[in-house]
Amino acid sequence: MAGNLAQPLVGRNPFCAHAGSPSFQPRIAPGRTPLLIMSLVCFPFKEEDVAVVLRNLECAASHPAVTGILCVGYSRGETWCAIENAKPLLEKSCNVRVVLIQQKRYGNALRGGKGDGMNTALGYFLEHPEYTRIHFYDADIVSFSGEWITKAEKQADLGYDVVRHYFPRSSTDAMITWFVTKVGFALLWPRTVLPEIEQPLGGELLLTKRAVEVLFNDHRVRAQSDWGIDTLYTFVAAQNGLSLSEVYISEGKIHALYGGLRDLRTMLVECFSAIQSLKNENVPVGGIHRMEAAKSVPEVVKQKVGYDIEKTLKLLKSNWTPRQRELLHQHFDSALVKGLLNASEWPCWSFADEDCWIGAYQKFLENFEKGDDDWEELLFKVWVCRVLNHTVRNVLRGYDAAMGSLRDFVWDVIQKSSTQQFKLGSFPALHSLASGHSAVESLANGQGKLRKKPKWELNPDMCTVQQ
Ligand code: LAC
Repeated sequence: MAGNLAQPLVGRNPFCAHAGSPSFQPRIAPGRTPLLIMSLVCFPFKEEDVAVVLRNLECAASHPAVTGILCVGYSRGETWCAIENAKPLLEKSCNVRVVLIQQKRYGNALRGGKGDGMNTALGYFLEHPEYTRIHFYDADIVSFSGEWITKAEKQADLGYDVVRHYFPRSSTDAMITWFVTKVGFALLWPRTVLPEIEQPLGGELLLTKRAVEVLFNDHRVRAQSDWGIDTLYTFVAAQNGLSLSEVYISEGKIHALYGGLRDLRTMLVECFSAIQSLKNENVPVGGIHRMEAAKSVPEVVKQKVGYDIEKTLKLLKSNWTPRQRELLHQHFDSALVKGLLNASEWPCWSFADEDCWIGAYQKFLENFEKGDDDWEELLFKVWVCRVLNHTVRNVLRGYDAAMGSLRDFVWDVIQKSSTQQFKLGSFPALHSLASGHSAVESLANGQGKLRKKPKWELNPDMCTVQQ
């Protein structure tokens, strides 16, 4: 954990008469005081397994910290009706307010999806100042329990602005998280908290009122109505210096997984595009980040195959257009061009190693155009090859080797990208700050020497200046 925790609860709670006075001591768990902490739990939902949703609502409603449940529906279908019917009994038996609303349209330029749903909840929260914290949980989680709420509340009691839940995940799951979001954060903002955040796309989190105000007042957040919303919440929180604690949920997040990687195409495009939209932004170095240690991963998670490999292999041959071939030749390295064109005839992926992906990632950051079918298909195909390469080269060696390779990859990108930024003089090395030498001097006298020559170079045009 870096730095000191900012002011804890003092002065942030409108329900405590003494808030802000120097003698004020927040009264916190155990013996939680409803007057001080009133938490709202939001479940965004589409069409889900109704029994699972209702069980989760009841579980949250029974938690002592929770005084309100907010269900934000994408549409008014079967799940909506089931919640509507269950609402009176739930309110009575758990003594909570249960509100059911349909998601509003905030980001008119992008597809209306998860972002609109989460932002609708933030809007509701700010219109109801009696609530001091908001939690988000996916409605379809089979393993959800009150413990998830308790863990987050305890960290918020310590003064953290944002609390994220993280889970053990299959080594073939989280392929957007690892190869798009974490690698993108590592490449663009290597010395910030961003690449260290374990599950930056996670939909299970707690936001304090301060965090909600920061996020909801940011026009970029309100505009991000699609899958990119998680990237925006994570990014804007870090950019504004909000403190973050990550809590570990050892039983894992058991929910519906996907079939072939095709199911993730929209999410991939929207998550990548969100990063691309931020590429010229500055983020403060460091930041307050605490992380609960992970425990041993359950066998059921270790053995899970995250996607259907056979279905995925077919994707490499399909949907080719002459323009995709043109764009490939125009923008990408010859090894990638050759590899991907081979893959259009017969599934192959060995060319899509880590260096190839980083090289391609930078080209996509520069040139990718969201909404252009050929660009989207190229991004998708290269990413599919990267995922297959990871599956066959790393996952086959066992769970620990696979996870180790993902962590090493991000670590390596952080290292190389930081080094590139030192070279470009974007910011001084830590030891230079202490000694008063410039980063350039440190590199010249050998202190900043690399172990080995990087196979890829950061594009200087893309180098963000960190504050
Ligand atoms: C991810 C998506 C696939 O985290 O859940 O990458």
